[in-house]
Amino acid sequence: MTKEPKSRWPGFFKLSVEERIGLLARHSGLGGAELTFLKDQEHLSRRTANHMIENCIGTFELPLGLAMNLRVDGVDRLVPLATEEPSVLAGLSKAARFLRRGAGITTTVTSPLMIGQVQILDVPDLGAARTRVLEARRALLEEANALDPRLVEVGGGAQDLEVRILPPEGDDDPVGTMFVVHLLVDVRDAMGANAVNTMAEQLAPRLEELTGGRVRLRILSNLADRRLVTARARVPVDLLASNGASGTGPDVALGIQEASVFAERDPYRAATHNKGIMNGIDGVLIALGQDWRAVESGAHAYAARSGRYRALSSWRARGDVLHGELELPLAVGTVGGIVDSHPAVRAGLAILGIKTAAELASIAAAVGLAQNLAALRALATEGIQRGHMRLHVRKVGLSAGATEEELPALIEELQRLGRADLDTARSVLASLRQGGA
Ligand code: MEV
Repeated sequence: MTKEPKSRWPGFFKLSVEERIGLLARHSGLGGAELTFLKDQEHLSRRTANHMIENCIGTFELPLGLAMNLRVDGVDRLVPLATEEPSVLAGLSKAARFLRRGAGITTTVTSPLMIGQVQILDVPDLGAARTRVLEARRALLEEANALDPRLVEVGGGAQDLEVRILPPEGDDDPVGTMFVVHLLVDVRDAMGANAVNTMAEQLAPRLEELTGGRVRLRILSNLADRRLVTARARVPVDLLASNGASGTGPDVALGIQEASVFAERDPYRAATHNKGIMNGIDGVLIALGQDWRAVESGAHAYAARSGRYRALSSWRARGDVLHGELELPLAVGTVGGIVDSHPAVRAGLAILGIKTAAELASIAAAVGLAQNLAALRALATEGIQRGHMRLHVRKVGLSAGATEEELPALIEELQRLGRADLDTARSVLASLRQGGA
C-alpha cells in the first residue's frame, strides 16, 4: 500500500476497521483527540448531548466511512461520510477514481452571502415604503453590523438590502400584499443562521417605522442562492467502460448523457437524480455536523428556481470526454454550531485537512458530483440492484448470525439460490454448520 497520492489507497476496503484507522493516522497526521475518537469510539457524551437538545435520552449512531480517491481543486482529500446506505462509499470512491484521471473535480464558490427575510404586512404606501427603506440602507446595515462586530472584523457582516413586493395570489388569498425585506449577510465561515436571524430581528422595529407596516416573520431563507458552489469534472470516456453486458466507454458516456437529459426534462426523474447527489452531500454534512436539512431544502428549492423542478447536475458527452457540472447552494460552517463540541466533527475536519466553510462546500459539492456519476453509470449499465444485492446479502448473513469466517460460503450459497431473506439465510447457515449446503 503506497502513501501517495494521498486519497488513493488501493485495497483500503479490504482492511479491518482497526487497520484502516491505523493507516489513516499514519498518513493523514491525525492525532490527539481526533484519533482517540476513532480508536476508542469516544462518541458524543451524554452530558454534551443533553446540552444540545431538549428531552435528550441518548445518542444515535450511523456508520462513518471514508471516501477515497477524491481530488478537489488539485488537492487529494480523504472524505468522511456518514450513511446507513450500502454502495454509497464504494460507488463514490470508484467514480472519484475515474474523475481523478480527468484531472479531478474543480469548484468555484461564491461569497458566503445568506439572506435574512423580514415580512411586513399592511404597508399603506408600498412605493414610498420601498424608497424610505432603500434610503435608510446604510443606517440599517450599520445597525445590523453593530450586533456582530466580530463578524465584521473577519471581513463579513450585513452587505446589502433588497425589497420584494409579493401581491396576493388570486381572489381567495387571505393575506394582502406583503412587503419583504431581504438582508444580505456575508457570514464568512459560519453557517450563518444565528447571525442572520439576530440581525433580522434587530431591524424589525426600525423597518416597521420606515414602512408604516406590521412585521411578522424575521428569519433566514434556506434558499441560499447567493451562496452557490459549482463543481465541474471531465472524464475520459474510455475509463467508463463496464465489465458487464453494458458496453464500451463511449456507450456508457452516451447512457450517462441520456440519463442526465431525462432528469433535466422530467421532475419525477429529477427528484431521484437529485436524491443520488444528496446521498453523497448529506453523508459529508452529517459526518461534519452540519445542518443538512437546511442544505437539502436549499438544494431542492434551487432545483425548482425556473418554475419547474429540475436536475441539479448535467452530463454531456463531447468527443472522448464526458463533462459533468453540478451547481447548488451550500450553507455550511466550520465555526459555531457543534463544531467545537462534537468529537466526530473535529475528527472530520482534521481528516479533511480544512478550516474554511468554502473548502467544506467545495468538497461536499465535489462528492455530490462524483456520487451522481456513480449512480448514473450504474443505472446506465448493469442497474443498481446487483451492487446493492451483494451488500444486502452480506448484511442478511450477519443478521442470521454468521461469523466473518462463515460469511463467504453463506453469501455464495445465497447468491446461488438467488435468495436474500433472513429465514433462508438462517437455514443455509444451519446446514453449512452441519457440514452441507
Ligand atoms: C439511490 O439511493 C440513489 C439513486 O436512485 C440515484 C439515481 O437514481 O440517480 C440510485
